[in-house]
Amino acid sequence: MLKKSLVIAAIIAVVVSLGGCSKQKQKSTATKGTAANPWVIGMSQCNRGEPWRVQMDKDIEEAAKAHPEVKVIFKDAQDKETTQQDQVGEFVDQGVDLIIISPKEARPLTKPVADAMDAGIPVIVLDRKVEGDKYTCYIGADNVLIGRKAGEYLVKALGGKGKVVELEGNMYSTPGVDRHKGFLEGIKGSGLEVIFAADCQWKEDIAQREMKSALSRFDKIDAVYGHNDPSAHGAYLATKQEGKGREKQIKFVGIDALAHEGVRYVREGILSATFQYPTGGPQAIDTAIKILKGEKVEKSITLGTKIFTKDNVDKGGEAL
Ligand code: FRU
Repeated sequence: MLKKSLVIAAIIAVVVSLGGCSKQKQKSTATKGTAANPWVIGMSQCNRGEPWRVQMDKDIEEAAKAHPEVKVIFKDAQDKETTQQDQVGEFVDQGVDLIIISPKEARPLTKPVADAMDAGIPVIVLDRKVEGDKYTCYIGADNVLIGRKAGEYLVKALGGKGKVVELEGNMYSTPGVDRHKGFLEGIKGSGLEVIFAADCQWKEDIAQREMKSALSRFDKIDAVYGHNDPSAHGAYLATKQEGKGREKQIKFVGIDALAHEGVRYVREGILSATFQYPTGGPQAIDTAIKILKGEKVEKSITLGTKIFTKDNVDKGGEAL
């Protein structure tokens, strides 16, 4: 008799504790995504050394401020692929609710992103892409289009012919590859010719060095196409330092159009044009919240672009 009642008591205890447990679990998922218990987003930035990336983190931070239901943890990989791989792994171990990544290069970050997805963590890839399609959503502007528009702009600005120096971004990153591809499409069939090209890793000092060697090799250079504004600006500085006044003849074109960088250079007459490359920070937060709420999002979100020249800079550029 005693034995029987003990068994019944044990069964009751198990049932009650199971019920309690599932109730507790229900409670914790139900209350996640509130100011008291926010969703945690891990943001993996490939480097914070470049103005455009500082702006991206700032845009994410600002956008997240309006949403107390999310909290963003930032990590800076300081431009090292291995550090960024480790940091994505750390976010997974930490059990964040969602990851946003702006990868340094496509190939090395493909697996860490796929691993996070396998661990059940949604991933938004921002600006530079990874390989394949194992991520939740990609957000970025169309770099082929931007490159093509830059090419078409120079064809027009140079009257259909001229010699161009192309200062490329990191050619293992998708914007570098796409901006190059688009540019070739834009100048196709014209008399524009790329006489010198170098991978400048998106860096102003490397672009400055490469431009110095282009200047020493070529007497005639009509334009510089920089894959970003720091590259175009580095080229301008090298040309000025050469001391022959060639910076007055050469048309320098860049991409990014930050207000305090490329747009300012256009205003100052340093760049002939810059093309906007939005950071996507606000869209990343909006999309993250939709995903976290269980709403469906597009696999790819394409951001727009604008051209800034001295003729339209005061009107805020022109949408393309
Ligand atoms: C910053 C940057 C930008 C460029 C983008 C491309 O790291 O080089 O200047 O537009 O990355 O991914």
